[in-house]
Amino acid sequence: MNPAIETKELTRMFGDFVAVNRVSLAIEPGEVCGFLGPNGAGKSTLIRMLCGILEPSSGSGTVLGYDIIKQSDQIKQRIGYMSQKFSLYEDLTVRENLDFYGGVYDIPYRERSKRIKEMLALAGLEGSENRLVQGLSSGWRQRLALGCALISRPAVVFLDEPTSGVSPTSRRSFFDIIQQLANEGTTVIVTTHFMDEAERCTRLAFISQGHLIAFDTPRNLKYSTIQGHLVELEIPEAIERISSVESLPYVKECNLHGPLLHVLLQSKDYIGELGRFTGAEPREITPSLEDVFITLAKNR
Ligand SMILES: Nc1ncnc2c1ncn2[C@@H]1O[C@H](COP(=O)(O)OP(=O)(O)O)[C@@H](O)[C@H]1O
Ligand SMILES: [Mg+2]
Repeated sequence: MNPAIETKELTRMFGDFVAVNRVSLAIEPGEVCGFLGPNGAGKSTLIRMLCGILEPSSGSGTVLGYDIIKQSDQIKQRIGYMSQKFSLYEDLTVRENLDFYGGVYDIPYRERSKRIKEMLALAGLEGSENRLVQGLSSGWRQRLALGCALISRPAVVFLDEPTSGVSPTSRRSFFDIIQQLANEGTTVIVTTHFMDEAERCTRLAFISQGHLIAFDTPRNLKYSTIQGHLVELEIPEAIERISSVESLPYVKECNLHGPLLHVLLQSKDYIGELGRFTGAEPREITPSLEDVFITLAKNR
């Protein structure tokens, strides 16, 4: 099977600054691929290049077999794109917004009402088609924006932080829709800061300072990245203890997670020793994707 998306050494500079640095990856059809990384890592820039709306400085890439530089028009017709600042028309109704995007994608009038119905069902907006957008909550708007991005039934859809600023319940139902799409064969690229969403992706691309630093399943990332034994410590003024804990010979890493310390030990044998040194009870934990990301970023 040909990959839905493939890049080779894809690079984008802004002046002297390298926003995306020689990223090579291949994404299979029907994957939900999560792009993860801190603000400014280059996720949106990478997505814009893949959508054919921003030219790479060097390197190459294809989306659905089309060249992102030479065939960007063909790509734009075949993908869906929902940006962080997605645009809906506030003074139009739900149906009118969908109808508008149906027009943008040149969907014939007779087909369009069928598609609108489909999108209303997918977004869970049936019965609300005549409501004005300005009266909708952020979760509803996001689902409507997704419906607008999908009205042309794109084979690949790019969702750039689609769930920032919505409630956890809305986020979960949004991700249910994404997974349903992928089950039907759509390739989904989604950027997120939420680890519960990352867990639901087939593969994750960790991006840091323009570099792709890891690309694998959530499960493999956890097992291959964290080498050692991870424990959690609850101690007051945790932040001030990091360097002393990290200087212990049997400690590989020590990071702050909210009010807690996560300590990576060389082996299980040192749990007691760490407990005596810190005066707190180390609790064994399984690594989260957040642990993985911190470790990957540090190792670079
Ligand atoms: N049009 C632009 N001109 C100059 N710098 C830009 C432009 N777009 C993005 N950048 C810079 O590139 C870096 C990556 O940005 P972006 O791709 O938006 O990161 P992310 O989406 O991961 O937060 C940032 O430092 C940003 O300031
Ligand atoms: Mg971004």
